[in-house]
Amino acid sequence: MKRKSKPKEKLPFMSYDPETRILIYKKKIPNRWLSIYKTPKKHEEIIRYEDPKNKIIKEYKKIVNFKGKIILDAGCGTGRQTFQYAKIAKKVYALDLSKEQVAFIKNKIKKNKIRNIEPLFGRIEKIPLKSNSVDIVVGTFSVTSTMTDRKKAMKEILRVLKPKGKVILADSYHEGEFLDIWRKYSDPDIAGGCYNCYIQTKEMHKFKTKIINTEWVFPTVKKAADLFGYVIGGETRKYLLKNKKKRIKMKVYICYGVK
Ligand SMILES: C[S@@+](CC[C@H](N)C(=O)[O-])C[C@H]1O[C@@H](n2cnc3c(N)ncnc32)[C@H](O)[C@@H]1O
Repeated sequence: MKRKSKPKEKLPFMSYDPETRILIYKKKIPNRWLSIYKTPKKHEEIIRYEDPKNKIIKEYKKIVNFKGKIILDAGCGTGRQTFQYAKIAKKVYALDLSKEQVAFIKNKIKKNKIRNIEPLFGRIEKIPLKSNSVDIVVGTFSVTSTMTDRKKAMKEILRVLKPKGKVILADSYHEGEFLDIWRKYSDPDIAGGCYNCYIQTKEMHKFKTKIINTEWVFPTVKKAADLFGYVIGGETRKYLLKNKKKRIKMKVYICYGVK
């Protein structure tokens, strides 16, 4: 995976380090999501309304064939995708840095008597797996997160992947209604979180990319306002109530490549 030239787009909260070719957040971003990841029930309540038609995973299935493969779900969260992979894959490693998420997944595995998911507690920057042991690494809203050292994470992903293994990463794209709301109405201290690593991932690893349209769909405006208000704070709650919004469009970028 060869390196390319400097990204052209300017991101106000980020600066570009020409030496490492990495986009760096100019200021430290307090990560509100981290406290959510420590409460999997709350996390699950929120993401229940994100991408309800499963467009992300449907797109993945067009890119790679999970059937009979060994998958690493890097930053698996509550396992919303993990359990879907397990239906067709040979084995799924479910890795997360939150002990609470790992315990939550363990419970689900036990309850549903699933045999091919192995939960792993740890960081993507130091994956507790042998080199060349995984066919596909998937990182949805995780590898590119503000709390991940993306350079170390990519190195580790490439280490555990078998030769010709595949990697798919996805995150919210920095354009579209969801990120516009975030930029305009969130608490200022988390506004920096709205710039994703799309460009960096594309540049550094020569990944192919796709941008897809999905949405958040809440049952009521109040639910949308309460949950969005809880996550990104600021004036978001007020804005959603005033504009009677219970559907929020979101663009997601998917980057993928081969080792
Ligand atoms: C937004 S959630 C996404 C969860 C899941 N992939 C999904 O799409 O529902 C991000 C998850 O990645 C985990 N995570 C973020 N950075 C991580 C890292 N460096 N190492 C391990 N887990 C990480 C968080 O703890 C959290 O559970």
